[in-house]
Amino acid sequence: TAELNTLATGLGWKYFGSATDNPELTDAAYVAILSDNKMFGQITPGNSMKWDATEPERGTFTFAGGDAIASLAEGNGQLLRGHNCVWYNQLPSWVSSGGFDAATLTSIIQTHCSTVVGHYKGKIYSWDVVNEPFNDDGTWRTDVFYNTLNTAYVGIALNAARSADPAAKVYINEYNIEYAGAKQTSMLNLVKSLKAAGTPLDGIGLQCHFIVGEVPTGLQASLEAFTALGVEVALTEVDIRMTLPSTPALLAQQQKDYQSVVAACKAVSGCVGVTIWDYTDKYSWVPSTFPGQGAACPWDQNLVKKPAYDGIVAALQ
Ligand code: G3I
Repeated sequence: TAELNTLATGLGWKYFGSATDNPELTDAAYVAILSDNKMFGQITPGNSMKWDATEPERGTFTFAGGDAIASLAEGNGQLLRGHNCVWYNQLPSWVSSGGFDAATLTSIIQTHCSTVVGHYKGKIYSWDVVNEPFNDDGTWRTDVFYNTLNTAYVGIALNAARSADPAAKVYINEYNIEYAGAKQTSMLNLVKSLKAAGTPLDGIGLQCHFIVGEVPTGLQASLEAFTALGVEVALTEVDIRMTLPSTPALLAQQQKDYQSVVAACKAVSGCVGVTIWDYTDKYSWVPSTFPGQGAACPWDQNLVKKPAYDGIVAALQ
C-alpha cells in the first residue's frame, strides 16, 4: 500500500504530517521514518517555536531549535506548521508576570509575532498564531493577554503574523472544540466576529487529543460548522490514548478510532490535512501528562506500526 502522505495528497489534502521535537532528532531510526515525505508531507515542532524557546528574555530571540526543524522540513521537501505565537503556557515569566499597560503588551505581542513569523517567512504553510484561548466552559482564559487587552489580543497577533509573512496561513488552534458545546460555540463566535471585523484568519486547528473508545461522533459536523464560516480546518495534534497496558482489544478499538477521525477530515472539503502529535509512542507527550495512560500513536515504542496505522490507511483509501 501507498504511504500516508501519498494517499492524503491523492485526496487533495495539503499533507499528512507529524509533530516532532529537537531531542528526538538524534535518533536516526526515528528520523528516517519522519523524513520519508511519502509518509509525512508536513512536520510541526512540538516545542521549539514556542515563546519560551524563541524569546526567553524580552528582545532576545533564539531560533536554533526551530531552525533545526525548519531545515529538516526543507531538506525533506515537507511543509512546516508554525506552533505557536501566543499561548498562556510555555510563556516566559517576563511575559506571564504581567504588569504591562495595554500599549506595552500590544507592542510586546506585535514584536514577538512579527519577529518569529518574519524569521520563518517563506517556509511556513500555516501558523498557530493563537493557541488555546478558551477554557473548557467556553469562557476566555484569564491569562496576561486577556487580562490586559481583553479579546483584542487575538486580532493584534493575527495582524502581526499576517504582515510578517503574507503567504503563511494564520490559524487559531484549540482543543475540545471537536464536538458541539460551549467551547465550540465560543470558537465559532470568535471566527464570526473576526471575519466581520476583517481581521486576517485563514484556519482553525482542531487538536484532537482523544481517548480510545471516546472519539466524538460529531467531528465531521464540527468541521463543517467551521468551514461554513469561510475558514479552512486541520486536525493539528491527533493522538488517541488508552489506559495502559495496551491489549489487542484496545488496539483494535484504537484502529477504528483513528479511521473515524481521519475519515471525518476526508469527508469535509475544507479540511486540508491531519497531523499526528508525534507518530510514535516512543516520543508521545501523553504518559508524562496522564500517568498510567499512553500508547496513543500509530507507531509503537519500537517504531513498529500498530493496527491504528491500518485504520488511517483505510480512511485515506
Ligand atoms: O525544556 C525543559 C528542560 O530544560 C527540562 O530539563 C525538562 C525537565 O522536565 O523539561 C523541559 O521542558 C519540557 C518541554 O516539553 C520540552 O521538552 C516540559 O517539562 C514539558 O512540560 C513540555 O511538554 C510539552 C507540552 O506541550 C507543554 O505544554 C510537550 O512536549 C508538547 O508535546 C506539548 O504540546 C502541546 C501543544 O503545544 C498544544 N496542545 C497540547 C499539546 C500537548 O500538551
